[in-house]
Amino acid sequence: MLIRPATAGDLADVARVHAITWKTAYAGIVPSSYLAGLSPEASLARWRERYPDYPVLPDGEELVGQVDGRVVGFVSLGRVRDDGMPPHMGEVWALYVLPAVQGAGLGSALLVGGLARLHALGLGPVVLWVLESNTSARAYYERRGFSLDGGRKHWARDGWSLPQVRYRLDGYGHPSGDRNVSRP
Ligand SMILES: CC(C)(COP(=O)(O)OP(=O)(O)OC[C@H]1O[C@@H](n2cnc3c(N)ncnc32)[C@H](O)[C@@H]1OP(=O)(O)O)[C@@H](O)C(=O)NCCC(=O)NCCS
Repeated sequence: MLIRPATAGDLADVARVHAITWKTAYAGIVPSSYLAGLSPEASLARWRERYPDYPVLPDGEELVGQVDGRVVGFVSLGRVRDDGMPPHMGEVWALYVLPAVQGAGLGSALLVGGLARLHALGLGPVVLWVLESNTSARAYYERRGFSLDGGRKHWARDGWSLPQVRYRLDGYGHPSGDRNVSRP
């Protein structure tokens, strides 16, 4: 198992992990018509369009997790994206591990690595958003010290929306003002 910063060559693997994990994790949560439209290829096209300078992300960065030399998970992190939040706060934007290797510790290694990067970037405390009905991920974060902070919003797509709840991990990271985290 290896956790390392993403490189430009990882984008296709990250998009594949994203699409496959979504289909499994969000079955029964996200409308099946939406999940049916997800594919590694479509995901890659969307990521390329959104992040033309990958692995450089606006105000953040990404770590990938490898098992047996293959990228099978990733964590995206950076400055908090919510309006009205102090700019020194950090956020775990995404954490995904392929279903075939879940439960083996990679997610936790990615989360620890992501929190360490946020700490090194001077961003904290750390928040993250989870779909309210994603009970397994919520329990996972709660076992790692995250607690609900009362934040709520809706994740909206064509004609449907799902509530999300915000979790916060206190006592991690050093608020240190406005540091540029695009290229640490
Ligand atoms: C949440 C997620 C990133 C965790 O990654 P992971 O590699 O499975 O995490 P770990 O192996 O470190 O820990 C998994 C936990 O489930 C337990 N577990 C046991 N068997 C398991 C299995 N077959 N599958 C999943 N988890 C299992 C582990 O023992 C561990 O328990 P703990 O929380 O008490 O330590 C991963 O499950 C995932 O991608 N889920 C779907 C996407 C998702 O919901 N992401 C979060 C969106 S905000």
